[in-house]
Amino acid sequence: MYRKLKEAIATYNDVESDNVLIDAGATNILHAVFVRAKKLGGRIITYRPTFPYPLEYAKNIDIQVRYVDLDHEFKLNIEDILQLNPKESDVIMIINPNNPTGNIVLGSSNYMKELLSSGALVIHDEVYFEFSGFTFKDLIRNYDNLVIVRSLSKAFALAGFRVGYALGSRELISELRNYQQYYPIPTVSAIAGITALSDLDYMKSIVSEVIKEREWLMSMLNEVEGIIPYESLTNFILISLKDIGIKGEEMFNYLKQNGVYVSYYPHEPRLTYCIRVSIGLREENEIFIKLLKSYVGRLRG
Ligand SMILES: Cc1ncc(COP(=O)(O)O)c(C=O)c1O
Repeated sequence: MYRKLKEAIATYNDVESDNVLIDAGATNILHAVFVRAKKLGGRIITYRPTFPYPLEYAKNIDIQVRYVDLDHEFKLNIEDILQLNPKESDVIMIINPNNPTGNIVLGSSNYMKELLSSGALVIHDEVYFEFSGFTFKDLIRNYDNLVIVRSLSKAFALAGFRVGYALGSRELISELRNYQQYYPIPTVSAIAGITALSDLDYMKSIVSEVIKEREWLMSMLNEVEGIIPYESLTNFILISLKDIGIKGEEMFNYLKQNGVYVSYYPHEPRLTYCIRVSIGLREENEIFIKLLKSYVGRLRG
């Protein structure tokens, strides 16, 4: 089953099976890359704000994590990364589109190539690829130090089955295999993955529904005075409540009392006044926007 899943992933991505590494979610792919960095004595170089959980794991196993700041539009300036003088033992980690900002932080393949030329192992996390259509996958043909990270947790909705994968050169994939657990995923997860990949039309129809709903929610959010929703190429939207002085935690608590769960970022100084909402069904999105409007409206009198 494992081999069949690998073949299905290879076909989906138009690569060879040898270019595919499967693990229990993108999370475990990232962990395998981090363990390699640990062995080589390398650092992880990344940016803020970004998805923190894999980096917490890296810190817990004593890997040094260096951050640069995204600019005011949440874009990455590669000079900031290059100034840290990345070496072959280091990992440069880029999530694109980024979580939780939802945007493309690095759009130019020339800039990507500059990062790759540093010799560091570059992680390009594309777990939201099916929503964004944005990938640097084709660069694995020419760069041995690029690892594309994907997941079936998002567009394929298999988060509980834990199926993630990496795409990379044959040499890199075979090296990374040494840092995985011996049996990476259960057979039942492999079957779920194969089944999901056998009906791409279904996945695409769900993705286009999510995108339609995201655009609808965005237009509703744009009508609410004083808040800033950020353009997103994912299945969520980051919203700043800073101009109306509402902290993310305050809005989180209000929404939670009313049965709606969003994310907030108390430990990320630039996002203290932000919430991140996942795109739901129309009726769920309507409940969310109604609650948000009523809270903001009450404050404004
Ligand atoms: C950017 C990013 N990378 C990785 C993951 C982990 O995905 P998985 O469920 O495949 O481990 C997530 C999950 O939210 C994510 O947002």
